[in-house]
Amino acid sequence: MSSGPITSLPRHIAIVMDGNGRWAQRRRRPRVIGHRAGARAVDRTIDFCLERGIEVLTLFAFSSENWGRPRDEVDALMKLFMGALDREVGEMQRRGVRVRFIGERSRFSPPILERMQNAEKATEGNTRLTLVIAASYGGRQDIAAAARALAEDVAAGRLRPEQIDETAVGARVALADLPPPDLFIRTGGDTRVSNFLLWQLAYTELWFTDTLWPEFDAAILQQAVDDYARRERRYGLTSAQIAVQATETPSE
Ligand code: IPE
Ligand code: IPE
Ligand code: MG
Repeated sequence: MSSGPITSLPRHIAIVMDGNGRWAQRRRRPRVIGHRAGARAVDRTIDFCLERGIEVLTLFAFSSENWGRPRDEVDALMKLFMGALDREVGEMQRRGVRVRFIGERSRFSPPILERMQNAEKATEGNTRLTLVIAASYGGRQDIAAAARALAEDVAAGRLRPEQIDETAVGARVALADLPPPDLFIRTGGDTRVSNFLLWQLAYTELWFTDTLWPEFDAAILQQAVDDYARRERRYGLTSAQIAVQATETPSE
């Protein structure tokens, strides 16, 4: 624990929801049961964010690499995803949640794709919470796509190579229009990023818990948010500089 100035609530929380399979296996149940239980933890997390006034919640639901899992498991996950899309859009509307998806959409089947588009369209006017679902998402693929977009702009004469800087790249990766993640949480005990938001996490505070995703709840999320509030985000500067900034910039 550091003793820096108290940072307020995170505006954006990004979560790697890991541990569904192990949760089920410990109960001698098929892995898919864990994924189903995981969906309920998603609901609890959304509720927490709505209650606390978190602006953006990004959830890693399915990675680019997860396509390589056994066929049965991928099929079961797609079925769950489809069911959730059918069920939850009305609920998100009611709760004022805007839903967005990041990731390689072309890999989903047309019926899923259509539901994703409908969910985004139906909820685009909602402003209480932006819920970003990372599905078929990979951080490297995200950066590669940004590089491709830059190359296309250069080839078309819209951009000069010397104009390529952090801002130009940052504008072409996922979540460019949202505040960057303040707090990253990974459940399930592993302490790695697993190709989640590589570019966007540059200065995100990282927080890990052994709790398996289906057991994640408001109390654990509160612990993460409390830990975050005690951290000093220095962005490469010194503690003393940060202290001066805190007195100079009026807090919002
Ligand atoms: C996370 O849980 C959900 C997805 C990756 C789809 P896992 O399925 O990875 O669960 P563990 O890590 O095997 O327990
Ligand atoms: C990360 O979990 C991806 C999601 C939670 C969707 P994985 O279970 O796929 O990650 P690894 O395999 O442990 O790195
Ligand atoms: Mg896992």
